[in-house]
Amino acid sequence: MKHLLSIEELDSIQLNALIDSAVQLKAERGNHTVRPLAGQTWAMIFTKSSTRTRVSFEVGVRELGGSIMFLSSNDIQLGRGEPIKDTARVLGRMIHGCIIRTFDQQDVIDFSEFGNIPTINALTDAEHPCQILADLLTVKEKLGTWEGKKCVFIGDGDNNMSRSWIWAAKYLGFELVVAAPEACLPPKAFIDKVNAPNVSFTTDPQEAVKGADVVNTDVWLSMGQEDQAEKEALFGDYQVNAELLSAAAENHIVLHCLPAYREKEITEEVLELHSDTIFQQAENRLHAQKAVLAAIAM
Ligand code: CP
Ligand code: NVA
Repeated sequence: MKHLLSIEELDSIQLNALIDSAVQLKAERGNHTVRPLAGQTWAMIFTKSSTRTRVSFEVGVRELGGSIMFLSSNDIQLGRGEPIKDTARVLGRMIHGCIIRTFDQQDVIDFSEFGNIPTINALTDAEHPCQILADLLTVKEKLGTWEGKKCVFIGDGDNNMSRSWIWAAKYLGFELVVAAPEACLPPKAFIDKVNAPNVSFTTDPQEAVKGADVVNTDVWLSMGQEDQAEKEALFGDYQVNAELLSAAAENHIVLHCLPAYREKEITEEVLELHSDTIFQQAENRLHAQKAVLAAIAM
């Protein structure tokens, strides 16, 4: 692996290796004998807000021996229109790796090609690969494995989280049901490209959640969509609440990548009932991303 730009471009061997590495790094936290980023300087370029991703990468790079700078896109010339390919060619001559959060997946791809340094997608409109790795680690810790489990994604079926889950399901083979309003299901071209018989799509959240081992949700309006009231209005039946979860498997877990909007995609009651899992999932960002850093550091 040279970069982590998407789950789509990985395979089952790489996904399993990253999760195994994350398990090991988590177990030996505070006691690392190998520091693969020793002597390195990394940067984060963020065009969108972040709590978990920013802090977990700042901590993770340091724990692996490197140093890191945070660059808000508004504070660098990128925010005034300097092309990403020029930013990449400058930074590529000075730093050892870059972590980017932005809108357009093509910007992350362009940075990786022009910068010629390890590049990590820290969320785009297309994918959130770092989050899925933490989610998978959490499933493994809580349920032992994802093999043979039924996972459900309820909410916006065509956002960065659902798409990354869809690719993960394709490669790892677990059952995934995506339940979303018709207008928020992925387009046929995407579904055809994924071509995974173990991934199905429905507009019926009650049917989807029947017997589910993992119930996963995310905000209805992703960053950049905050003013789309007409989109939010589609999601009334898609709230993860106690009534919906009554049909899930007895020992089901609930995942939420956070931040969560109470009484919208998830109730306060459900979030607090499953807070042990959800905040373990947030902590796992650190361990999963250290595995990514260790895998791609030059
Ligand atoms: N889940 C997640 O990526 O959180 P932040 O937006 O706080 O980084
Ligand atoms: N789908 C959400 C994820 C936030 C971590 C967003 O893009 O805002």
